[in-house]
Amino acid sequence: MRNWIVGIALFTIVGVAACSALLPDWMTIKGPILSSMFGGGIDAPSNATVQSRFHLAEGFEVQLFAEGLPNARFMRFSPGGDLIVSQPRVGRLVHVFRDLDGDGRSDGHKILIENLDRPHGFDFRDQQLYIGEGGAIARVGFLETGPDSIAVAGEPTRIVEGIPEGGNHWSRTLRFGPDDKIYLNVGSSCNVCEEEDPRRAAILRFNVDGSGAEIYASGLRNSVGFDWQPGTDQLFATDNGRDLLGDDYPPCELNRIERGGFYGFPVANGNRRPDPHFGEGQSDRIAASIPPSHSFQAHTAPLGMTFVRHPDAEESLRGAALVALHGSWNRSELSGYKVVSLHWEANGEIVERDFMTGFNFNDDVIGRPVDIIEGPDGSFYLSDDYAGAIYRIAPKGTLAGGPNTQLSRPAAAPLSNPLADLDAATLADKTARGATLFAGNACGTCHLAEIAEAGMVAKPLGGLAAKYTIDSLSHFLLTPTPPMPVVALSPDDRRALSIYLLSTYAN
Ligand code: HEC
Repeated sequence: MRNWIVGIALFTIVGVAACSALLPDWMTIKGPILSSMFGGGIDAPSNATVQSRFHLAEGFEVQLFAEGLPNARFMRFSPGGDLIVSQPRVGRLVHVFRDLDGDGRSDGHKILIENLDRPHGFDFRDQQLYIGEGGAIARVGFLETGPDSIAVAGEPTRIVEGIPEGGNHWSRTLRFGPDDKIYLNVGSSCNVCEEEDPRRAAILRFNVDGSGAEIYASGLRNSVGFDWQPGTDQLFATDNGRDLLGDDYPPCELNRIERGGFYGFPVANGNRRPDPHFGEGQSDRIAASIPPSHSFQAHTAPLGMTFVRHPDAEESLRGAALVALHGSWNRSELSGYKVVSLHWEANGEIVERDFMTGFNFNDDVIGRPVDIIEGPDGSFYLSDDYAGAIYRIAPKGTLAGGPNTQLSRPAAAPLSNPLADLDAATLADKTARGATLFAGNACGTCHLAEIAEAGMVAKPLGGLAAKYTIDSLSHFLLTPTPPMPVVALSPDDRRALSIYLLSTYAN
């Protein structure tokens, strides 16, 4: 019994509990999943395993794009086309670099912002990055000076605070809608209960400055993924059905979200079926609830979803949506662990097909899909919080090594001298000023072996000309990666210091 309580508490902490099954089946929880509850996860599979295990819909192939990203959850591309991924458990967003060397893999990753409170969903508007934290919406300036050259500016401020937290379902997915308002998922505080705070089990909406809070839709147990259908701007959201009613009930849902709509939690499950514990005497509320537009198999835990938008999308995916099914946690036979595509038929029906399977094979789990998004080039990126991996999926023959590489990102711009535009006098003047600033701000204590403190391994500077422009290096100095401190400098001095660095440590 004690283990059981500890187990449930852990699920509460990491927030992965979703659709599940009969209580006695708790004992059937598979080893790897327990380790993912502790944040351990597993390593990403080898290339050979990726190719042998995963099965893609006709005409598509997959590659491991990035690894070493434990607890990788939600993703967005920045307006300039850089991939950002949230790692809520470690409180940060990371920038996953482009594949400029053309080997089909990201060229690495770097922390974009950290020390956040469980950042999950995030989105961009007007040079600002908006982040859904456990109980708040944070906003921070976002600087984009070129491919792979991005940074946040200054400290984030919380434009909304006091969003209910605690209990289950801490993950806050945040996205801007076509109406330029912020949509935020706030899942239920429990497996099933009448919520005290009406903002739970709901999708909330805010103005861009955080004002005008509104309960946009309610009765949604946990709508982690949502997107607007291109052409109609109709909002659709995934929802995870409650636990502990058996292996095959209730279904997980896709809902067509109407403003003010009520979707049944906790009184009804699936298509207006009364909940055995909370449905009694609630026939009016149940009758008024909106049934799902599509039902997924019970306990599959649909999370992120995206409509396919790219104008050159494969015919088979035109108008479709892709949904990541994270997978059941204590169903006697695992369900989910795959990506499915949803197709809107002419008669209004939604047909579900497998898009990517193989994460679970005979109870051997090598990953758990979380979010799927479409890249600027039309390929798909899938995050996996169990193997700490990102997969890239594209039409056959277009990934690295294929005969047709036109979908890969453009090659890096040829290297140029970032100081070429400066005349000799300015260069000399700024370099001298920068050298004084470098010495005066103790930069050498970490970067020059000669003056590094005893026991400290100096981090030599070099190769800066290939990585930075004057502007992007000035931005870096504003938002350095810890442990490097931000030094208070005027914009002019920051520029002079950058010029000094670029001339001294160019190669
Ligand atoms: C406490 C140690 C520390 C101090 C002080 C420090 N830095 Fe750094 N700096 C680092 C570390 C560590 C990195 C590497 C960060 C990373 O890997 O992303 C770094 C990275 C850099 C980079 C980027 C290097 C690259 O290859 O991209 C530059 C430029 C830089 N520092 C300049 C400075 C300047 C200028 C100062 C003084 C204002 C300074 N640093 C002070 C620790 C420090």
